[in-house]
Amino acid sequence: MKLQMRLLFALFLPVLLPVVTYAFPASATVTETMRALTSPELAKAAADFNTYCSVCHGRDATGNGPVAEELKTPPADLTRIAARSGGVFHADAVFKTIEGLDMPLAHGTSEMPIWGALFVRQAVGEGVLIEDAKTAARVATDRIKRLVRYLETIQEK
Ligand code: HEC
Repeated sequence: MKLQMRLLFALFLPVLLPVVTYAFPASATVTETMRALTSPELAKAAADFNTYCSVCHGRDATGNGPVAEELKTPPADLTRIAARSGGVFHADAVFKTIEGLDMPLAHGTSEMPIWGALFVRQAVGEGVLIEDAKTAARVATDRIKRLVRYLETIQEK
């Protein structure tokens, strides 16, 4: 590993892990604070979806993205999340799946990336102050909440 990478890890891991845990406490409290999206928010969520999710899940979210065939586990059809749970869209569960903290990090059996960590990292940028970290955590949480709401809007009726 390059020295720069090692430094980055040494810096990031101690800062990031507590921040991510702080950012995503009990998910019940997270989705309770979710509300309907304004149309600019919906557009942001759709843009995030196209950038980060559609490679696997497909632009129409049905699971037919360009890399889908290379995965061991087929990407889920995200228009049928509710249908698979008896018609109920469990926002908390969806939030957890996207944020990724539920996944066994060390085992990595899931092919679904951990978006919580990536979004926090993007939002922290160069900042290592605790205030920056808290802001980053909030930004990342909001981003995932928007994605959850977005998915809710595309559920098959
Ligand atoms: C590298 C491929 C890949 C990318 C990119 C990806 N996913 Fe997934 N996703 C999967 C796979 C594979 C599954 C199937 C189950 C598993 O492995 O956990 C899945 C499952 C899910 C589920 C669970 C659905 C259910 O009902 O069980 C949700 C929700 C989800 N993805 C949302 C997203 C969102 C939102 C993004 C973008 C921020 C995203 N995914 C990006 C591969 C991907």
